[in-house]
Amino acid sequence: MERTPTPAEIARRPTPADPRLDLLAGTLDLHHGRIRFVHPRDPTALLYEDDAATDQAYPPYWAELWPSGIELAHAVSERDWTGTHAVELGCGLGLPAVAAALAGARVLATDRSADALAFAAVNAEQNGASIETARCSWDDPDTLLARGPFGLVLASDVLYGQRNVDEMHALLPRLVGAGGEIWIADPERPLTEEFLAAARERWASVRTSPTRLPKIWIHRLTPAG
Ligand SMILES: C[S@@+](CC[C@H](N)C(=O)[O-])C[C@H]1O[C@@H](n2cnc3c(N)ncnc32)[C@H](O)[C@@H]1O
Repeated sequence: MERTPTPAEIARRPTPADPRLDLLAGTLDLHHGRIRFVHPRDPTALLYEDDAATDQAYPPYWAELWPSGIELAHAVSERDWTGTHAVELGCGLGLPAVAAALAGARVLATDRSADALAFAAVNAEQNGASIETARCSWDDPDTLLARGPFGLVLASDVLYGQRNVDEMHALLPRLVGAGGEIWIADPERPLTEEFLAAARERWASVRTSPTRLPKIWIHRLTPAG
């Protein structure tokens, strides 16, 4: 099997023409050990992606290494998820999905960006984790709903923008099964308090826990009985 190049070896490579292939490698220490991952070196060099359905283009946020994703992966890895069917929404590089799979869950990683799914799949594979991926937008979730319900719904740094918040309110109750949980990692985005206030009206419980980082929180939502 081909050896995974070290970060120094990757850094010495000539810059490829496609910035999606100009990679940096990183590692993350989780409870079950160290995982390795790759991500685009310069997300700002990536093109905006077209969304034909809405006639909009959106920034390649999937390519950033967001602290919320790292903290969610770490928190997920604290538990044994054997037998749990999990989904990650807006997975980006897919670190929480990889952590859940390594902790025993059967995982579906989803994003509206096909490039994000490619990175999530590679990041799973290089850690010996098995995940499935599906391209899906929160406003057109039939593919996702057909694969549910899920015992664990993961999302990190998705509560930016009113549209995202509205779509989360509509989608989350349709995804989680009885006895399931939703874990959302968030870096105090401006709309998060509003999201949580509405969630407290709709969900049996909404609990917020700190992470290792001062301004990153994990909000856990559970449905009634
Ligand atoms: C800020 S990034 C966070 C990425 C990753 N969860 C993390 O924390 O590293 C937001 C992610 O949500 C995805 N996303 C945004 N809006 C979406 C939508 N309407 N449907 C599906 N995915 C969406 C983006 O493609 C991106 O991967």
